[in-house]
Amino acid sequence: MKALVAYYSDTGNTEKLAQGVYEGIEKAEKDILPIKEVKEVEDFDIIFCGFPVQSHSVPGKAEAFIKSIPAGKKLALFATHGSLRGGPLAIEAFYYALSLTSKGTVLGTFGCRGKVKSSILDALMNKDEHRSWAIEAQSAASHPDDADLEDAKSWAKSMLAKAGGQ
Ligand SMILES: Cc1cc2nc3c(=O)[nH]c(=O)nc-3n(C[C@H](O)[C@H](O)[C@H](O)COP(=O)(O)O)c2cc1C
Repeated sequence: MKALVAYYSDTGNTEKLAQGVYEGIEKAEKDILPIKEVKEVEDFDIIFCGFPVQSHSVPGKAEAFIKSIPAGKKLALFATHGSLRGGPLAIEAFYYALSLTSKGTVLGTFGCRGKVKSSILDALMNKDEHRSWAIEAQSAASHPDDADLEDAKSWAKSMLAKAGGQ
């Protein structure tokens, strides 16, 4: 079993979560790379793909990568977001990410909160379409934290087991 952890991260939160996912992968060959450095995915049995939720959706670079995954390849999606864990804004982004994949390829999803840069929070507070999540996001300042990383490790293990690897 070979696993790839591929991530897109602007301010480091998703990269930190990707490290947690990577550490949770045991009993498998593994690699971790930013999406822009991924050359091929054919060699991997399962791809963990991480992105930050942006504007309730998936950033363009992650979107292009998810779309490029060949049909039938096992995929597990993770994300960081400023809004509450399990809340509608994050769910909306995961639904969109799922819509980019071939049916039946996604084994599961995992999301946790990620600190939003204060300069960005201040700017978005002034925009009607972003204000609701920006207010919510103020309490994400300590995330991803150790508990998030432990949850990510457990999730990675369960995804690998589902893929038949551990
Ligand atoms: C332009 C922009 C738009 C964002 N939009 C959302 C959003 O719609 N919902 C949300 O929960 N968080 C949103 N966020 C917060 C990020 O998802 C969060 O800070 C994430 O952890 C950043 O991850 P990164 O450090 O890997 O880039 C947004 C952040 C930026 C910069």
